[in-house]
Amino acid sequence: MNSPIGFILGSGWGGIIKNLQEKKETPYKNIFGHSTTVVGHSGKTITGKIFGRSVILLSGRFHTYEGYSSSDVTKTVRYLHEQGVKKIIITSAAGALNPKYKVGDLVILHDMITLFCQSPLSGNQFQNLSEAFGQDLINSAQQAAIQANLCFQKGVYVYLKGPHFETFADKMALRFLGADVVGMSTVPEVIMANHLGMQILGLSLVTNLAFVKHDHKEVLQAVKNQEQNLKRFFINLLKNV
Ligand code: HPA
Repeated sequence: MNSPIGFILGSGWGGIIKNLQEKKETPYKNIFGHSTTVVGHSGKTITGKIFGRSVILLSGRFHTYEGYSSSDVTKTVRYLHEQGVKKIIITSAAGALNPKYKVGDLVILHDMITLFCQSPLSGNQFQNLSEAFGQDLINSAQQAAIQANLCFQKGVYVYLKGPHFETFADKMALRFLGADVVGMSTVPEVIMANHLGMQILGLSLVTNLAFVKHDHKEVLQAVKNQEQNLKRFFINLLKNV
């Protein structure tokens, strides 16, 4: 039997839930003992099927900027691993640093900068991250985006703790380091998922151009505008993985 595909849904990505059959919801409180505090993160686990494929969606995540440790925010990944998930899709909203990117672009992550992230691992957990994201999943996502007519990029994600957005000087520095998008999540989860031997797909939706002034409301609206395209993308993706 195929193992379920696990999802961690970032800011505004909850729209995919509407496609689910045999849906069963459990609030985070019942699993993790508490919910997430962030607007746009509903804080529930939803199991079900999308076109016959079993999925476990974690709608909402924990962030280090809410006061959780790097290890704490990866309890979602550890939970999915315990449920038998071998392939995990980690989604987020992100600001574009690459000047070629546009709001609404899907960014398929091929690498990430961990320099500003405290590791969720400790002791002798010397995790190799030279292929942090799975090449097969990257290829499948690329195909699914083409089929869905969705503009996509392949890029590098950089994590900052936040919750403040970056200054212009920060953004210049991050771009100089080689980052294409910036966000406040994903990296601790990807480190943990690698450690647990999972195959990982990282997806960011460009919700704002980092060099243009913006706020959290705009971030949520940008994801909402892409809901239909993302729905088609996920249907195609789940047929391929
Ligand atoms: N910076 C950091 N995190 C973000 C951004 C941003 O510009 N947009 C969405 N999440």
